[in-house]
Amino acid sequence: MTSNTTALPPHPLHQRHIVLALSGGVAGYKAAELCRLIIKAGATVQVVMSEAATRFITPTTMQALSGRPVVLSQWVSGSDAADANGMPHINTTRAADAVVLAPASADMIAKLAQGRADEIVSLMCLARPLNAGGHSVPLLVAPAMNREMWQHPATQRNLAQVAADGATVLGVGNGEQACGETGDGRMLEAAEIFEDLCMALSAPLLAGKRVLITAGPTYEPIDPVRGITNRSSGKMGFAIAQAARRAGAQVTLLAGPVALPTPRGVQRINVTTAADLLAATQAHAPQADIFIATAAVADWRVAQVAPHKLKKDGSGQPPALQFAENPDILATVAASPRAQSGDLYCVGFAAESQDLLANAQAKRQRKGVPLLVGNIGPDTFGRDDNTLLLVDAHGATSLPPGPKADLAVLLVEHIAARTLQRA
Ligand code: CTP
Repeated sequence: MTSNTTALPPHPLHQRHIVLALSGGVAGYKAAELCRLIIKAGATVQVVMSEAATRFITPTTMQALSGRPVVLSQWVSGSDAADANGMPHINTTRAADAVVLAPASADMIAKLAQGRADEIVSLMCLARPLNAGGHSVPLLVAPAMNREMWQHPATQRNLAQVAADGATVLGVGNGEQACGETGDGRMLEAAEIFEDLCMALSAPLLAGKRVLITAGPTYEPIDPVRGITNRSSGKMGFAIAQAARRAGAQVTLLAGPVALPTPRGVQRINVTTAADLLAATQAHAPQADIFIATAAVADWRVAQVAPHKLKKDGSGQPPALQFAENPDILATVAASPRAQSGDLYCVGFAAESQDLLANAQAKRQRKGVPLLVGNIGPDTFGRDDNTLLLVDAHGATSLPPGPKADLAVLLVEHIAARTLQRA
């Protein structure tokens, strides 16, 4: 029997309300881009700026990007009717799903560590609602400062205190700084902060789990300049890596030769051949809780790789290549004692060209995995959209056609539900 999941998941920021707070720093220009990204994802943004922040980027720019008057002082109410009580420092976080402090200057971090409240940004952070388990509105802190300020024991001590008080400290980038020096302390890029915000607002369905994913094609050399590969883009595997990370998992991604960017927070290991992929998988599978094999592994490799480029010999005859069968990585892992005992949950993919349900059911049995995900290969290679059929012991579930990023979220939810049932 086949059941249907009809709805694609909303973006984690869809219909959320985010407070974007800026303290003083050259990185203020990145907050403009961050504001744009958050709004594009379907959220509303209330910008709050310290006096120092306005020295680096104008409130007019932030108002234009957020579509709302910027809160600049605890003494001046915004135009919002909710501010009629004259308490913008309280009102601002009451409807918020998260507060992002970017840039967070060394001074602002020191204020947060001490619980000071002498201007609007620190005052508002201190006034965030508390519930029984701690702060109910998450605070993400994106530090931005000169490398000496960053390394100073006082800054590190303050950051440790801020983290101990419940904020999420996002870390910093490394590189050339506005002051001309080079080192740690640059604020993360807007896209990186955006991704961490998405994670903070996603359900932590795989928190504490370690997920190992194979993705992309393999490349089997014939000689030093030629080889055998396939049309897999790796997009599905990379999307699953991002979805699993957003769900709180520690993710290792074994990637064949693809030019895709590594999802933030994911450990990526590049491999070339099926033999490389098997070795990397066997090195990481013993620590994993979930193994997801999306890689399009070449079934065959050339038995003897030529040490030099194969030349035409003038006879018109092609070279007589001999092939050897590659190991079946998924079947090997699925047969391991940890997988057999249920400690390692294995998920296979099937790229078929027809009879998806029958082929997926047969492949699930043949590979010995609890969950097999079928898709029509030629319809999806290289594309951003796909359709998936999930086949497990409960039957078949067909996911709606949609972007690979959305299908990856639904697949992660399915895997989380199944692994929870087994726990
Ligand atoms: N797979 C693997 N190692 C291989 C071949 C496949 O780990 N040597 C994994 C893939 O990552 C995928 C699943 O097995 O999760 C099915 O891959 P697919 O190419 O669809 O199947 P094959 O085993 O190659 O079977 P066939 O070519 O007969 O369809």
